[in-house]
Amino acid sequence: MDLATARLLLSNEGRALLDALPPYQEGAALRLGEDLRAAGYDAALVAAVLTQSRLRARARRKLGEFADGMLFTPDGLEQATRLELAARHAHRFRAAGLAHVLDLGCGLGADAMALAGLGMAVTAVEADPAVATLAEHNLRHFPSVRVQHARAEDAWPPGPQGSPGSPGRPLGAWLDPARRTPGLTDAAGRTRRTHSLAGLSPSWDFVQQVAADVPATGAKLSPALAHSAIPAGTEATWTSREGEVLECALWWGPLVRTPGRVACVIRDAPGSPDVLVTEADSDGLGPVAAGLPSAGEFLYEPDRAVLRAGLVGALTAATGGAELSHGVGYVVAPTAVVVPFARRYVVTEAMPLQVKAVRAWLRAQGVGRLTIKKRGLDLDADQLRRQLRLDGRGDELTVVLTRAGVRPAFLAVEPV
Ligand SMILES: C[S@@+](CC[C@H](N)C(=O)[O-])C[C@H]1O[C@@H](n2cnc3c(N)ncnc32)[C@H](O)[C@@H]1O
Repeated sequence: MDLATARLLLSNEGRALLDALPPYQEGAALRLGEDLRAAGYDAALVAAVLTQSRLRARARRKLGEFADGMLFTPDGLEQATRLELAARHAHRFRAAGLAHVLDLGCGLGADAMALAGLGMAVTAVEADPAVATLAEHNLRHFPSVRVQHARAEDAWPPGPQGSPGSPGRPLGAWLDPARRTPGLTDAAGRTRRTHSLAGLSPSWDFVQQVAADVPATGAKLSPALAHSAIPAGTEATWTSREGEVLECALWWGPLVRTPGRVACVIRDAPGSPDVLVTEADSDGLGPVAAGLPSAGEFLYEPDRAVLRAGLVGALTAATGGAELSHGVGYVVAPTAVVVPFARRYVVTEAMPLQVKAVRAWLRAQGVGRLTIKKRGLDLDADQLRRQLRLDGRGDELTVVLTRAGVRPAFLAVEPV
């Protein structure tokens, strides 16, 4: 979005029109646009408010009812921190006793809003002029927030108000660097995401410089962060919800709760505390199984945050089991244990993954359809389905295709 469109949206006419729109419905948008233009509204304004209406509807999933009073750009919304994560970040800053946080690359202001909501002063710095303008609007109800349109590097070091170490005003810094590659877009016109530290803006060097200047620094990074890149003494927490890893946050100094790698699994049930898995819960790499599991044994599949954090050893420790092969993540154990960061299945059959033998076994069982889970094998599941010549009728079975030791393995499983 350009600055002119941001200003158009913030004009009295823009705001009034946006507020007057009915709840967004994809199927009705075209007609609504025609009606508004026929009523004399400028085409650019109509396009801008309809886009906002669509983005607001989408934003509700991420930001709840806060979305209704906010303005968005498509990329800004895509990059905005979800409410439940922003709240967790802000709690960490508050628990560390910080009074003022510099949000260096604040985007549309989701993190800044959570920090201000917990009573902290925030200096929110944003390089993109249109995004900074919208952030100012989004944060208008928080008098403790000051939005500054600048490159974070140019706003560094901060002036005396927010200078590192100024007495009586404990200062923190938050960076959620953009992971988009300007100029490269996907089919939907959104800028493409990079998972490399080299592609961050502000840069990874700048993040580390800030952390050196302001001990209480936090940064949101890609879940693909390499373990070797984690700076000494920091905490790297991978957080997941509903099986999806949402972020890896790095914490320095007083924001560290548990140094090293941590997996945080947000649970669905309201009020349930997060499940935290740390290196202390883990047996290092943990044992590896001698071969295929036996029917009747249990197969555990760790949450993806645990996998990303490299903490499968916590699952072998919790179950007394062994990983089927180093790196695949599946753990087999003779007993059923409740593990809040893993799914449990009972193994009903296990055999080497050989197409003929598997096909014969599936036929004998009357299986016509498969749900395939695959990890640690370079194999095309659809091609295998074709080779197995299932007729689509009969029973459905969940199967796991993975490695046991170095050999491809086929496991039939049932959730328990
Ligand atoms: C991932 S977004 C931040 C999202 C934000 N945490 C939120 O929850 O809404 C990163 C933002 O940093 C901005 N940015 C990139 N490079 C910057 C720089 N050098 N200085 C300041 N802002 C920058 C981008 O324009 C983008 O809006």
